[in-house]
Amino acid sequence: MIELKQLSFAYEKGRPVLQNVSFRIEDGEAVGLIGANGAGKSTVMKLLLGLLSPSEGEILVDGERVGKDNLAKIRRKLGFVLQNSDNQMFMPTVYEDMIFAPLNYGLSREEAERRVDTVLTRLGLQDLKYRHNHRISGGEKRMAAIATILAMEPEAVLMDEPTAALDPYNRRIVINTIRDLRQLRLITSHDLDMICDTCERVILLSAGRIAADGPAESILRDRELLERNRMELPFRYAGTER
Ligand SMILES: Nc1ncnc2c1ncn2[C@@H]1O[C@H](COP(=O)(O)OP(=O)(O)O)[C@@H](O)[C@H]1O
Ligand SMILES: [Mg+2]
Repeated sequence: MIELKQLSFAYEKGRPVLQNVSFRIEDGEAVGLIGANGAGKSTVMKLLLGLLSPSEGEILVDGERVGKDNLAKIRRKLGFVLQNSDNQMFMPTVYEDMIFAPLNYGLSREEAERRVDTVLTRLGLQDLKYRHNHRISGGEKRMAAIATILAMEPEAVLMDEPTAALDPYNRRIVINTIRDLRQLRLITSHDLDMICDTCERVILLSAGRIAADGPAESILRDRELLERNRMELPFRYAGTER
């Protein structure tokens, strides 16, 4: 369970980026965090991971306040793919990156290897296994980063713009994968069709404030609300209204 309580944040004094943001996400829920460029989506993700500290308010993960003393424990629960996943690879190859955490969690090499292979197969990425992280494309890196967090089997999955660099084929694989997960999922995107496919609830951020929080379908069909917040109806609803 993740809870944000009256969270405010500013990178620079006097220029608030998030103001009084509160929401609670239960285990198993899939929530889309949407909003125009600069609305504050990535900042919410970074605060959740303790990469930034709130100016006001607090963040709770499983009831524990995120702070310096419990960051390692919290990050072990949260599998995350940041918007810039280039910075997330530490080891030379995709395989070594993927197996690092499972080995660290105490699995035998055999068990860890099985887990890695299962995820690679599920994502159709077997060919990427022994490739070098600095010799694969942006989209492949994104897929590898997603594979790495799935191999950790985290309690919750946070993805910042997961489909941004992907071709339609990989985009579809990622959508299906997110749908199949049972964990709490928080997904940011301005790809509202992807959010339609993966999330039952949507939180709309607008200039650092929550403009709407409710069932995905009612928010994503609301042309007026979306346009007022610099977004457009998903393709699938654009033709059906009147
Ligand atoms: N490191 C930073 N320093 C100063 N301002 C930043 C920094 N990162 C982001 N911002 C600003 O904070 C606001 C929210 O950014 P961000 O959370 O990345 O938005 P989103 O992910 O919704 O596009 C934007 O106005 C952005 O310019
Ligand atoms: Mg962002």
